[in-house]
Amino acid sequence: MISKIFSLLQFFTLLYFLTVTFASTEEATSLLKWKATFKNQNNSLFASWTPSSNSCRDWYGVICFNGRVNMLNITNTSVIGTLDDFPFSSLPFLEYLDLSMNYFSDTIPPDIGKLTNLICLDLSSNQISGTVPPQIGSLAKLQSLHMFDNHLNGFIPEEIGHLKFLTELDLSFNTLNGSIPASLGNLNNLTILHLHDNHLSGSIPEEIGYLWSLTDLRLYNNSLNGSIPASLGNLNNLTILRLDDNQLFGFIPEEIGYLRSLTHLDLCSNTLDGSIPTSLGNLISLSILYLYDNHLSGPIPEEIGYLRSLTDLWLYTNSLNGSIPASLGNLNNLTTLRLDDNHLFGFIPEEIGYLRSLTHLDLCSNTLDGSIPTSLGNLTNLYVLYLDGNHLSGPIPEEIGYLRFLTDLQLYNNSLNGSIPASLGNLNNLTILRLDDNHLFGFIPEEIGYLRSLTHLDLCSNTLDGSIPTSLGNLTSLSILYLYDNHLSGPIPEEIGYLRSLTDLRLYNCLHPYSIQIGRNVVVTKK
Ligand SMILES: *[C@@H]1O[C@H](CO)[C@@H](O)[C@H](O)[C@H]1NC(C)=O
Ligand SMILES: *[C@@H]1O[C@H](CO)[C@@H](O)[C@H](O)[C@H]1NC(C)=O
Ligand SMILES: *[C@@H]1O[C@H](CO)[C@@H](O)[C@H](O)[C@H]1NC(C)=O
Ligand SMILES: *[C@@H]1O[C@H](CO)[C@@H](O)[C@H](O)[C@H]1NC(C)=O
Ligand SMILES: *[C@@H]1O[C@H](CO)[C@@H](O)[C@H](O)[C@H]1NC(C)=O
Ligand SMILES: *[C@@H]1O[C@H](CO)[C@@H](O)[C@H](O)[C@H]1NC(C)=O
Ligand SMILES: *[C@@H]1O[C@H](CO)[C@@H](O)[C@H](O)[C@H]1NC(C)=O
Ligand SMILES: *[C@@H]1O[C@H](CO)[C@@H](O)[C@H](O)[C@H]1NC(C)=O
Ligand SMILES: *[C@@H]1O[C@H](CO)[C@@H](O)[C@H](O)[C@H]1NC(C)=O
Ligand SMILES: *[C@@H]1O[C@H](CO)[C@@H](O)[C@H](O)[C@H]1NC(C)=O
Ligand SMILES: *[C@@H]1O[C@H](CO)[C@@H](O)[C@H](O)[C@H]1NC(C)=O
Ligand SMILES: *[C@@H]1O[C@H](CO)[C@@H](O)[C@H](O)[C@H]1NC(C)=O
Repeated sequence: MISKIFSLLQFFTLLYFLTVTFASTEEATSLLKWKATFKNQNNSLFASWTPSSNSCRDWYGVICFNGRVNMLNITNTSVIGTLDDFPFSSLPFLEYLDLSMNYFSDTIPPDIGKLTNLICLDLSSNQISGTVPPQIGSLAKLQSLHMFDNHLNGFIPEEIGHLKFLTELDLSFNTLNGSIPASLGNLNNLTILHLHDNHLSGSIPEEIGYLWSLTDLRLYNNSLNGSIPASLGNLNNLTILRLDDNQLFGFIPEEIGYLRSLTHLDLCSNTLDGSIPTSLGNLISLSILYLYDNHLSGPIPEEIGYLRSLTDLWLYTNSLNGSIPASLGNLNNLTTLRLDDNHLFGFIPEEIGYLRSLTHLDLCSNTLDGSIPTSLGNLTNLYVLYLDGNHLSGPIPEEIGYLRFLTDLQLYNNSLNGSIPASLGNLNNLTILRLDDNHLFGFIPEEIGYLRSLTHLDLCSNTLDGSIPTSLGNLTSLSILYLYDNHLSGPIPEEIGYLRSLTDLRLYNCLHPYSIQIGRNVVVTKK
């Protein structure tokens, strides 16, 4: 009896191995047929794929489970081929298919729908064209679908909304068009939704706001229009929200202020109007806030000053008005502050001088008045300081000379008066110095001659007097030198002739008694 059971067991074990060997051979044969269609047969990684070797043990990129192919991962293996002969029907146990970063071209066959056990499908970074077949909706177990960086076109099939276990959907960097299917709102477990860099149009479906698990939503660089759905305010776990570079209009919904996990909010380059909701002051994790290049109006909410993690605050090219809130002085970690090209008025708050991490401060093209706060001299990490195109008056603070990293100092087109501080001669790395179009008077300090990195020196349209310092002859990198429209007198120093990089020299409407002709394209006239 016992021996009978034993031999029966032996029989079934043998049967099992026979079946497994047979099925596995069929899988191997089908993969070899596919490999035979690759255009580059000399790929050394695929040398292991031979009929005589054990496909489960020896083949590059193949992993089996119970003797059946479970994973095929040939990412970044330089394959030139297509999916036309992929054995969709012969790999019933395939769960992971990664063909990313190769040279697969042609279309995705509808037979892809036969890989019903797939958990993970990655076709990203290939040259696949045509449409996303609606049969993709049959891959009911799919958790991760990556098809970014291909040449896919046509619509996003609404059948993708059937993939209810999906956690990652990335179709970015294609030329998909049509609108975003509302069915995506069914994907409860989605954490990553990347549809950016396509040609999608229509509005953002309200249903996207039902995707409670989303942490990363990027729809930027499409042609989306309509307004931002208030439902997005439900996405509690969202850390990245990028809707920039679209044609979105209307208000920024106040509900965006509920997204307390946000670190990155980018709504720039749309046609949003209305004012910046004060509720944004709740986004205490925010490090990047880009609202630039819209039609926003009203004041900068004082509450922005609560966002202590901010590193980049870019609100430029809007119609913002009111004055710059002093509360911005709380933003210790701010490295770039761009409020340029708005209708801001009033004083530059002294508190800006607390922003010691700032490398880039741009307040140009507003209607700010009052004087330049001396506290700016504390911003010793600053590379770029643009205050041009305002109504600033008073002197240039001597403290600006402490900003030793400055490469670019533009204070032109204001009503600054007083004389040019000699301390500017400390700014070793300055390449651009524009103080033109102000009411500066007194001498040009000789120390300007220390600024050996200068390529562009513009002091024109002031009331500077005295003579042109010979030290300017040390500025051998200078290509533009404008001193015109001043009250300068005395001779043009011979040393100007050392400035071999000069392409544009303008000294006209000064009081010097004679002119010289130097270099290429040089303009030296006297009216
Ligand atoms: C492999 O073959 C392709 C053409 O089929 C050729 O361009 C390439 O240089 C070959 N590479 C090697 C390493 O032989
Ligand atoms: C494929 O292998 C690469 C590394 O070789 C890995 O990063 C990637 O996650 C794998 N793909 C899958 C689907 O497991
Ligand atoms: C792809 O492979 C190349 C060389 O085979 C390697 O240099 C590169 O780092 C790989 N890229 C990735 C993302 O793994
Ligand atoms: C979402 O994921 C959880 C576990 O992370 C799982 O229990 C649940 O079934 C999933 N829901 C859907 C609709 O896939
Ligand atoms: C989408 O693109 C296809 C070609 O890729 C084109 O035939 C179709 O008209 C486009 N549809 C829309 C709505 O833009
Ligand atoms: C939004 O875009 C769609 C599709 O491009 C277009 O038909 C519609 O007129 C646009 N709506 C508005 C208000 O611009
Ligand atoms: C949000 O994130 C928290 C912490 O990571 C997690 O416990 C929670 O399940 C997430 N909520 C949803 C709806 O995914
Ligand atoms: C937006 O996408 C287009 C292609 O559709 C690309 O040429 C352009 O560089 C992208 N714009 C940005 C800002 O990335
Ligand atoms: C400011 O930056 C420092 C250093 O990167 C970091 O440790 C700190 O947490 C940041 N502060 C806030 C409020 O984010
Ligand atoms: C600037 O620094 C000086 C000296 O450290 C300090 O007394 C002053 O309060 C600072 N001002 C601002 C606005 O940071
Ligand atoms: C000036 O620039 C050089 C090179 O760009 C850099 O090494 C140096 O640290 C800078 N000096 C100051 C004071 O910023
Ligand atoms: C200009 O260069 C000369 C010679 O290197 C030096 O003696 C003089 O001090 C320099 N002047 C200035 C202002 O840099």
